[in-house]
Amino acid sequence: MIKKPRGTQDFLPPKSEEIAYLEEKAAELFKRYGYGRMITPIFESTDLFTRSIGETTDIVSKEMYTFNDKKGRSLTLRPEGTAPIVRAYIEDPSSFGLLPAKVYYIGQMFRYERPQAGRYREFWQIGVEAIGSSDAVLDAEIIDLLMSYLEEVGLINLDLKINSMGCKNDRAKYSEQLKDYLRSKKADLCKDCRQRVEVNPLRVFDCKNKDCQMSITNAPKIIDYICKDCNGHFEKVKGYLGATSIKYKVESRLVRGFDYYTRTVFEVASSELGAQDALGGGGRYDNLIADYGGDSTPAIGFAFGLERIILARQKQGKSKRPTKLHLWISYIDEESKKEAFKLLLLMRKNNISADMSLDYKNLKAQLRQADKRDVGYSLVIGPDEIASGKYALKDMNTKEQQSLCIDEIVRRMKDEG
Ligand code: HAM
Repeated sequence: MIKKPRGTQDFLPPKSEEIAYLEEKAAELFKRYGYGRMITPIFESTDLFTRSIGETTDIVSKEMYTFNDKKGRSLTLRPEGTAPIVRAYIEDPSSFGLLPAKVYYIGQMFRYERPQAGRYREFWQIGVEAIGSSDAVLDAEIIDLLMSYLEEVGLINLDLKINSMGCKNDRAKYSEQLKDYLRSKKADLCKDCRQRVEVNPLRVFDCKNKDCQMSITNAPKIIDYICKDCNGHFEKVKGYLGATSIKYKVESRLVRGFDYYTRTVFEVASSELGAQDALGGGGRYDNLIADYGGDSTPAIGFAFGLERIILARQKQGKSKRPTKLHLWISYIDEESKKEAFKLLLLMRKNNISADMSLDYKNLKAQLRQADKRDVGYSLVIGPDEIASGKYALKDMNTKEQQSLCIDEIVRRMKDEG
């Protein structure tokens, strides 16, 4: 038997309906904030991710699905959605219209991680990117958008952490300090982190090894190394956040696992999710577009993981119930089956969800099917009903029956919504 690849999932109703619901909610809310949908390819040139996310990050060094196509070009299944949007912006800035350009995306991402609850190799993200403004009010708007979405889909008890990573210079200064500190802890670090200390010390923060985590508890904090401008920007972000009802904590150790971040970074978690508790996160990446050869253009965005939102909604009892079927139609014999089929199509044309047993079963077996399904109403068609044009419509909840003609049934079903 061929099984699905490790770390992937098949989605069937009602789980697939949760994905559709989360997409719908995002489209509705993001539109209110002025974001339009963008679709980018599922695979991109490998270079795009190595250069933007950073060669020494876990994602690039260990987790990418990279392959050569038939012409020997190195391609990678996208591990995230920011770099593809930046690539598209640099390729054709005018197609993004007026700045700041606001786009959102929905789709699968791929990371070769060790699968566990809430962590998959193929997973769904919804994300937004706002390109073309460095104003702190945009940072607050973006954080508000993330938190409003999570609220809209019913999640409560969330922890929002924010931090500032400063600018390139601040980061360089901080990296040196961190390097000095980590060199004194080298004996306690894992093999990978010992290398990271020299090449990219910030990445030690992403290591999942317990000893490495312990070693950074007293590490210098990036927030203490940010320049006056960056500090002023961060103060403004906090000021604008004060105009919202969002509760947050400044977490000086929050650096996020990508090299492209500058200034504001943030992450939101749910304590109910266990080890993989991050629902979403993001931040500014003011240098990424210029580093890639585009005109210097500041930008900010976030993404959240749908599997984790579904899990959190489940834990908080917010999952959607499977869609209820309005009407179940049973029939007595082959002749009435044709009438039942006609009625079925008529109901569906009138926006009423309806179904019937497709292969002929005796009436008892058909009625048993109606009992097993979550059905609102049920009716039986036989020669008598065809002759009289009246059908006994049974309310499956109250078990009451009423004799009605087709028009009345359609009206009743529509009224019930
Ligand atoms: P990220 O923090 O790597 O950020 O991913 C965002 C969210 O995707 C995570 O908080 C988590 O919910 C979900 N996620 C990540 N990896 C997995 C996985 N293996 N299985 C299930 N869910 C996962 C980014 O991807 C950035 N591009 C966000 C961003 C946009 N920054 C600026 N703009």
